[in-house]
Amino acid sequence: MTNPKVSPKSRASVIVSIIAARSDALVFFGATGDLAYKKVFPALHAMVHRERLAVPIIGVAKQGWGLEELRARARKSVAEHALVKDDAALQQLCELLRYVDGDYNDAATFEALRQALGDAKRPLHYLAIPPSLFGVVVSHLKASGAADNARVVVEKPFGRDLDSAKALNATLHGAFDESAIFRIDHYLGKETVQNLRFFRFANTFLEPIWNRHYVKSVQITMAESFGVQGRGAFYEEAGAIRDVVQNHMLQVVGMLAMEPPATTYVESARDELVKVFRQIAPLEPQNVVRGQFEGYREEPGVAADSQVETFAALRLRIDSWRWHGVPFFIRAGKCLPLTRTEVVVNFERPPLARLVPRSSNFIRLQLTPDLEIALGVQVKKAGERMIGEPSELTLLNRATVDEAGAYERLLGDAMAGDPTLFAREDAVEAAWAIVDPVVHTPTALKLYQPGVWGPAAASSLTEDVGGWTALSGRADGAEPHDA
Ligand code: BG6
Repeated sequence: MTNPKVSPKSRASVIVSIIAARSDALVFFGATGDLAYKKVFPALHAMVHRERLAVPIIGVAKQGWGLEELRARARKSVAEHALVKDDAALQQLCELLRYVDGDYNDAATFEALRQALGDAKRPLHYLAIPPSLFGVVVSHLKASGAADNARVVVEKPFGRDLDSAKALNATLHGAFDESAIFRIDHYLGKETVQNLRFFRFANTFLEPIWNRHYVKSVQITMAESFGVQGRGAFYEEAGAIRDVVQNHMLQVVGMLAMEPPATTYVESARDELVKVFRQIAPLEPQNVVRGQFEGYREEPGVAADSQVETFAALRLRIDSWRWHGVPFFIRAGKCLPLTRTEVVVNFERPPLARLVPRSSNFIRLQLTPDLEIALGVQVKKAGERMIGEPSELTLLNRATVDEAGAYERLLGDAMAGDPTLFAREDAVEAAWAIVDPVVHTPTALKLYQPGVWGPAAASSLTEDVGGWTALSGRADGAEPHDA
C-alpha cells in the first residue's frame, strides 16, 4: 500500500503499528472449498479451543449458501478433521461465523463484506482460492476499502514460474505492503521443520562438522505412498516440481544450508534463507530425473498422454564457502513405497578404509509423520576380527502436532503480524529461479511402477556418493526401476 502522500517516516510508523496490532476480523475467501474444509475450519476450531480466536470470522464464496449452511460445513469439517474435539469451542466458532455469498467479480460482494466487517479496523484476508482469482479479489478489496490496514494470506502454489510469481507479487503489492503479505508454505509451520533450524543452531557440536570438510552429501526424501487422491486436475497444472520441490523441499534445503541468523533482527532468518537460494545454481537437465507412476493417466482430470511428473529427483549445487562441492539431493514423489519425509546428512568416511569400507556416519532427521533424530555409526562387529558394522542410534522419537497444527500456528502468526514462518517475496522468486529451467523445458519423463523408489535413472544421480541412503534403515520397498 504505497501512498505517495505519506512521508517515509510516517509510512514506517504505519507499518510498525500494523505489525504490532492483532487482526480484529478474519475473512476467508473460498469458504465452501476443499482447503477450507480440510484445513481452515479445523485450524479455526483449534484456535478457539485454545482461546486464541474471538473475532468475527467471515466466509466468502459463491455457492448460493446462507450462514446455516456454512455452519453445517464447519461442524462436518471439525468432526472429520479436527485433532481436538471440543463442543463448546465448536459452538463458539459457529457463533463467530458470518457468511457473504457473491461473485468475486462483483463490487456488491465486497460492499457486503464491508458491511459484515462492521467495526473491524484491521482485518486479515485469507485467499483460499486459485491464484487466477487473486487479481480480481485484491483489486476489489482495495476499491472497497477492505484492504485498508489489512493483512492478506495467500496459499501456494505461488505462481507457475519466475515470471508469473513476479506478476502475482506485483498484483498483491497493488493493495498491500510486503509486510502485510503472508505467503503460506505449510512446511514452515511444521514443528519438525522448525526443529531443523533449532537443532542446527542450538547444538555446539554440529557447527564444526556442518560444512564441506565433513559432509559428503545431503539427501532429502519426501515419499508418499498414495497417488493424487482425486486432485488430478490440480496436479496436471503442477507436477511434483511445482507442487512440493519449489516450495517445501527448497525451504528444507534452506534450513539445512543457511548461515546462523542474527538474533536481534526479526528479518534475519528470512534474509539467510534468501542468500542460500541465491547460491543454488539453476537446475541443469542432467541433474533432474522426472518420473510418472503407471496408472496416473487413468486418474480423473488427467490427460491420456500427460507428461506431468509425479516423481522428481534432483541434484543441487550450492556455490557457497560452506557447501562448495557438497551435493544436495531431493527426491519427492507419489506412489512410492511409504509415506515419510526425511533428511539424511551423510558424513565423509574416516581414513580407515580397511575397517570401514563405506561411509556410514550420518544424521537422520525425520520430518513426517513424526520427529525422529538418529545417528548412523559404525560399531565393531562382535568376534575376533577388527571389522565394523553399521548401526543406528535413535536419539529421539516424538509424535508431534501434524498439519492441522501447522495451519493453526500459521493463521495465528498472520493475525499477530509475525512474518517469520512465511515465504518472503524475494525468497519465492529466488526459489523459482532454481527450478525455472526445468519447468520451462521439462526433461524426458520415465514411467515407474507404483511401490518403487521412482524410475531407475534416479539412482544414477547419487552414484558417486554411494547411492540414496535407505529410509530409517527399515525395509522400504524395491529399488528404483522403470515400469
Ligand atoms: C501439499 C501438496 O502442499 O503438501 C500435496 O500439494 C502433498 O501434494 C502435501 O501431499 C504434503 O504435505 P504433508 O504435510 O501432508 O506432508
